[in-house]
Amino acid sequence: MNVLGIETSCDETSAAIVTDGREIRANIIASQADLHARYGGVVPEVASRKHVERMLPVAQDALDAAGMTYRDLNAIAVTNRPGLLGALLVGVSYAKSLAYALDLPVVAVHHLEGHVYSNFLAAPDLIESFPLLVLIVSGGHTQIVRMDGHGQYTLLGRTRDDAAGEAFDKSARLLGLPYPGGPNVARLAEQGDPTRVAFPRALLGDSLDFSFSGLKTSIRTFMAKDNGQTRLPDVAASLQAAVVDVLVEKMRRAAHKTGIRTLCIAGGVAANRQLTTSMQKMADTNGCRLVVPAPILCTDNAAMIAAAGHFRLLSHAPDALSFDTLATSPMG
Ligand code: KG4
Ligand code: ZN
Repeated sequence: MNVLGIETSCDETSAAIVTDGREIRANIIASQADLHARYGGVVPEVASRKHVERMLPVAQDALDAAGMTYRDLNAIAVTNRPGLLGALLVGVSYAKSLAYALDLPVVAVHHLEGHVYSNFLAAPDLIESFPLLVLIVSGGHTQIVRMDGHGQYTLLGRTRDDAAGEAFDKSARLLGLPYPGGPNVARLAEQGDPTRVAFPRALLGDSLDFSFSGLKTSIRTFMAKDNGQTRLPDVAASLQAAVVDVLVEKMRRAAHKTGIRTLCIAGGVAANRQLTTSMQKMADTNGCRLVVPAPILCTDNAAMIAAAGHFRLLSHAPDALSFDTLATSPMG
């Protein structure tokens, strides 16, 4: 089954074709990051307008890259929640029009469920490995989810304030680095000493919840007092270490509490090399298997949406064309 995936929930216009939920035939991603950088963050109206311009060419590029035509498609999967409403509407309107014109089934996919399924693209044998623990770390969300089967999720922990990606982005701004902050902090941190500044790690007792707002405040206070004396790469490495330590420790605790030994990470922050290296060490020490998707599958892309849609269609009827877009929505 060839599924066309569509993703426009934030500032990436993406179309992908995935065969049988595992083989990526094309995954075209048109990022708008440069466009939003001058504003220091995503401007919803600008994002929507760019999606309108790019949606059709990006979809055509995906078909060309896969060596297919619209007639080769068997189903369409599109992100309809959560995200920027105007941005989501572009992808959803396109997907519905195409489904109507070609008489194809369409499935509405939760964006975070898409992130989870990037792990199934990275390791197709995960299908035989339930239950799984998945750490979802993106710009808007940070949560640990237990997955007992396709579409079966239990939320074990979530952020009480900022998401991990948001912590990177906001801290980056305090350091004078451009949007998107995460990759820029990571790049600078490569030449820095992570032990130079002891930023706080909020562990919140034995809860699996997260809190990153204190870190942001601590960085703001530090930058004001330090007055440029500490090398910026050392500050970047120290703040990256503070975020990574908390994420790794919470996953260690989740594995210990649940006895689950297959760990996955997903979302834009999973593209962070320090996070994956530290998580791998923790997994090795605790006898766990760790799955990490390639960076291009961690940040927003439509291949993960096509994969999530594929597995949903195996057990559910397609969605009626009347489905809505939602700015916020819990997973599962
Ligand atoms: O999943 P994603 O592409 O979009 C959302 O669904 O939010 O995640 C974007 C987030 C941003 O906050 C960005 O700064 C962060 O992922 N990110 C990173 C890295 N690459 C992207 N954070 C740390 N290190 C990276 N290498
Ligand atoms: Zn995302």
